[in-house]
Amino acid sequence: MNQDLLVVNDLARHYSVGQGWFKSKGIVKALDGVSFDLAPARTLAIVGESGCGKSTLARQLTLIERPTAGSLTLSGVDAANAPKLQLRSLRQQVQMVFQNPFASLNPRKSIAATLEEPLRINTTLTAQERRDKVHAVIARVGLRPEHLRRYPHMFSGGQRQRIAIARAMMLSPRLVVADEPTSALDVSVQAQILNLFMDLQQEMGVAYVFISHNLGVVEHVAHDVAVMYLGRIVEQGPKERIFGAPAHPYTRALLSATPTLRPAERRQRIMLLGELPSPLDPPSGCHFHKRCPWAQARCSQEAPLSRPVDGRQVACHLA
Ligand SMILES: Nc1ncnc2c1ncn2[C@@H]1O[C@H](COP(=O)(O)OP(=O)(O)OP(=O)(O)O)[C@@H](O)[C@H]1O
Ligand SMILES: [Mg+2]
Repeated sequence: MNQDLLVVNDLARHYSVGQGWFKSKGIVKALDGVSFDLAPARTLAIVGESGCGKSTLARQLTLIERPTAGSLTLSGVDAANAPKLQLRSLRQQVQMVFQNPFASLNPRKSIAATLEEPLRINTTLTAQERRDKVHAVIARVGLRPEHLRRYPHMFSGGQRQRIAIARAMMLSPRLVVADEPTSALDVSVQAQILNLFMDLQQEMGVAYVFISHNLGVVEHVAHDVAVMYLGRIVEQGPKERIFGAPAHPYTRALLSATPTLRPAERRQRIMLLGELPSPLDPPSGCHFHKRCPWAQARCSQEAPLSRPVDGRQVACHLA
């Protein structure tokens, strides 16, 4: 479909890691055959336990790393195999917002200089045009012109994240990848930052890949949800389908572990068996079978393919 902004097909990223002085090297399949599409002005949330590959996916989507295999098409261009020159223009279409805005902002640069930098490097705007644009964007994220002369340490966490968002928006990207953008913030400012993301999407038509382990946050911002487990997407589809009637046992377990204020929706708690397996040595067949309360013999032998079930895609033999 050419209306899609982003088409990801069978994307993989493997890392080779040393396991000790004399042992041979192992391979971590941090991403192992991930596929999804994203249309303009839509938000896809990525959820899953620590280490399942969310940030690795973010680094591939923002073209910081080259994937090991698979394809990644951005506005119709094959970004995974693009030559260097083309990569540069593609990178302008994709920006990233990180969890910790303090670490991602240069402490020695004023906010004005930080926001102007992408314009100076990537556009032919005059100094006056750059200043005008910086003023327009800083107002748009809810800060004042006098803030431009200040430095990152002079702001609260929520304000710093507004600045990081402003910087990401300077070049009017088509896609913003946000990796746990509200997890480091005070609960009272989280909702404000989420609403800012959503307002900017309405105005600019920007698409988001929104990574969060907080399912309340995901329910607030996402149109679609992809659930990851050990480098693979186990279930993906419209938020209402995934939250309303989760089909994969892992999704059910994740949702059942989230407290809800609405008693009618209280779900039976599904306890996962055992620990999250090592990504260096994932279980055979379905990666989830050792922790799945419903696993059968087939699940340990055969990796389930993703298939449509009841309005979403699910990779489970039993769904
Ligand atoms: N550069 C690297 N070299 C070796 N292994 C890596 C590298 N980057 C990530 N990994 C491994 O890949 C797996 C996925 O890591 P990743 O950071 O993508 O997980 P995550 O879902 O973002 O976790 P978290 O929720 O804790 O941020 C982990 O097992 C991690 O140790
Ligand atoms: Mg991460």
